[in-house]
Amino acid sequence: MIVLGIETSCDETSAAVLEDGKILSSAIYSQAEHSQFGGVVPEIASRAHMEKIDTITSTVFRQADISPRELGLIAVSDSPGLAGALLVGISYALGMHTAYGIPVSGINHLEGHISALFLNHPEIPLPFLALVVSGGHTAIYHVEAFGKYRCLGQTVDDAAGEAFDKAGKLLGFSYPAGRAIEQEAAKATDPDLVRFPVAKVSGPNPDFSFSGLKTALKYYLKDKDEGFIDTNRANICSAFQRAVIDSLRKNLLIAAQKSGVRTVGVVGGVACNGKLREELGKTFSKDLYFPLPSLCCDNGDMIAMAGYLRAQRGSLRFPRLNPAGTL
Ligand SMILES: Nc1ncnc2c1ncn2[C@@H]1O[C@H](COP(=O)(O)OP(=O)(O)OP(=O)(O)O)[C@@H](O)[C@H]1O
Ligand SMILES: [Mg+2]
Repeated sequence: MIVLGIETSCDETSAAVLEDGKILSSAIYSQAEHSQFGGVVPEIASRAHMEKIDTITSTVFRQADISPRELGLIAVSDSPGLAGALLVGISYALGMHTAYGIPVSGINHLEGHISALFLNHPEIPLPFLALVVSGGHTAIYHVEAFGKYRCLGQTVDDAAGEAFDKAGKLLGFSYPAGRAIEQEAAKATDPDLVRFPVAKVSGPNPDFSFSGLKTALKYYLKDKDEGFIDTNRANICSAFQRAVIDSLRKNLLIAAQKSGVRTVGVVGGVACNGKLREELGKTFSKDLYFPLPSLCCDNGDMIAMAGYLRAQRGSLRFPRLNPAGTL
């Protein structure tokens, strides 16, 4: 089955063509339009998606050397995300559905992120724990099978990626800042210069909290002069990154202990982080799975894969805009 995946939930316009779960082609436009604002501006995102979606989709058809009529399915992110941004992808998918009579399915964006694991690691043993760690979400799911998810813990405030982006703003990096912080942290000469606290959320669940960490960084920087920050930016980035990673690792361990599930898959934009991969590797070693870094941030490939897996299970569903949808 040939599947077209369309992703427009936030600030990436992306499409991909898959055949029987293998990538034939993919294209992505990451909207640089937001960097000057320090975060995604929804109206700008919608307009940029409208400008790019046709070019991106035509590109993947050309690269895969197929025509839209050969598609067996169009899969499109319809939840959660920015309403106006999601609408662009959904409208485009429905237009193709109407024009060519091809079946169409809505995809939950978070299920899309998890599907990136099945794309790269079809052998991943079930059940596993999926840590979704992205710009808008941080949660641990018990994945019994594709389509069967139970949330074990989630953030009570900021997402981990959001924390990287907010820290980046305080430290003088443009949006999004996760990659830049990782690169800066790698240059640290004194990673123990400062230790930032990792919040422990009360209650039995492995929930996360990152807003206190951002505040701790803000107060730490408050009485430091520019020269000190310039000299120690790498050390500060390293300390910040370590606090985020410690929190993710600790809660994954709690979830593993509580559930008895040892296999862990980590998905979402923060899963690109090499230090996170290294540190979790020390704890979970051979039981740890990541998608390729290129499939961690938003992409059409993971949406197409989720559509393909849904088709196999007979669980296609007509797209329905749901900006606040959960998994
Ligand atoms: N190397 C990295 N280290 C840490 N964070 C990173 C890295 N690369 C990307 N990120 C972060 O990943 C986030 C983007 O990930 P992604 O595209 O999955 O999020 P999103 O789609 O905006 O949110 P969601 O999937 O929750 O809707 C940003 O916050 C970015 O800073
Ligand atoms: Mg995402």
